[in-house]
Amino acid sequence: MPQLHFNGTAIELPPGQSVLDGLLEHGHAIANSCRAGACQACLMQATEGDLPPQAQIGLKPTQASQGYFLACQCRPEKPLSVRLPDMAEHRHAAVVTELQPLSEQVMAVSVRPEGDYPYRPGQYTTLWRDDGLGRSYSLASVPGVDAELRFHVRRVPNGRFSGWVFDQLRPGQRIDLQCATGDCVYLPEYGDDDLLLVGTATGLAPLYGILREALRQGHRGAIHLLHGAYDPQGLYLRDELGDLADRHPHIHYHAAVLEAGDSDVTVAQVDGLALEQLSGLNNPVAYLCGAPDFVQGLRKRLFLAGMAMNRIHADAFLPAAANTASTS
Ligand SMILES: Cc1cc2nc3c(=O)[nH]c(=O)nc-3n(C[C@H](O)[C@H](O)[C@H](O)COP(=O)(O)OP(=O)(O)OC[C@H]3O[C@@H](n4cnc5c(N)ncnc54)[C@H](O)[C@@H]3O)c2cc1C
Ligand code: FES
Repeated sequence: MPQLHFNGTAIELPPGQSVLDGLLEHGHAIANSCRAGACQACLMQATEGDLPPQAQIGLKPTQASQGYFLACQCRPEKPLSVRLPDMAEHRHAAVVTELQPLSEQVMAVSVRPEGDYPYRPGQYTTLWRDDGLGRSYSLASVPGVDAELRFHVRRVPNGRFSGWVFDQLRPGQRIDLQCATGDCVYLPEYGDDDLLLVGTATGLAPLYGILREALRQGHRGAIHLLHGAYDPQGLYLRDELGDLADRHPHIHYHAAVLEAGDSDVTVAQVDGLALEQLSGLNNPVAYLCGAPDFVQGLRKRLFLAGMAMNRIHADAFLPAAANTASTS
């Protein structure tokens, strides 16, 4: 069994157990959220020993070269010494400036970081409450266009973080932000290609950032934005997106729901609509964001329909693991 050294203690890790699970099992309060390698909440640093490559997927090269790794993805086979990183280097203090309901289910949260906060539209970060509870949210804002960072938070029934955002968070409150990460971003080399942006519920947040960034960079190809929800209450920013499409002939906005009630919204599966659009697109690039099943399913279907995987950018909104405790 590989030995894990942390804070002056040695732990025997059973084969296949992650560093995160081993430390939690031994009573160490290690920050975590998704436990799937997405949110980077469990960032730690190795001081001695070899890291399995899997433990550093998604980290910046500079972080990887300094021994940072994701504890939930690290299953060492040899002895390893680890420590908690200096979080001041990885988190930014920020203040909430505005909470604006976009619908009954979605709140726009505007946040002003202290000092520089480099990010690209469509990336995501983890927001941290001061009791150590963290959740990932995508950036809907565009640097240089929007004065502040903006997130779209959907209220999840019994959701600890999203419920707190709706019921308790107020302008003026402080919040911490992890460094922005993720590769669901617009690339200038896509300028003449057709973009297929497909999201469910608050999967619209990163797509809204990517769409406006594409416009800012003078994107020339067509942009198809497809937003799906269970019912019309799950859609939002409809007027704004409709106006944008009216003003820019190369933007096409489609909203679809599964249950329309007495509204006139199209009833369709948004992934089916995306596949229908695909055949008419020139050199398509796809961005898929939202519910994990939807994202993974559509990614596979687009690949089977002929798209190269490296032209499909995807962010699955994985829920936090069931027992993520606050860490302080
Ligand atoms: C990369 C990434 C980006 C994300 N971006 C956004 C974003 O821009 N906007 C946004 O609103 N969310 C986003 N999420 C999801 C977000 O991180 C939280 O998981 C979500 O807000 C729920 O957290 P909570 O603490 O309120 O609920 P929890 O307390 O974690 O969960 C409460 C209960 O609801 C269940 N649950 C959790 N999520 C869902 C869900 N989606 N559907 C149904 N049941 C659920 C849980 O299993 C649990 O039983 C993103 C997630 C990831 C990984
Ligand atoms: S990346 Fe490890 S908990 Fe999310």
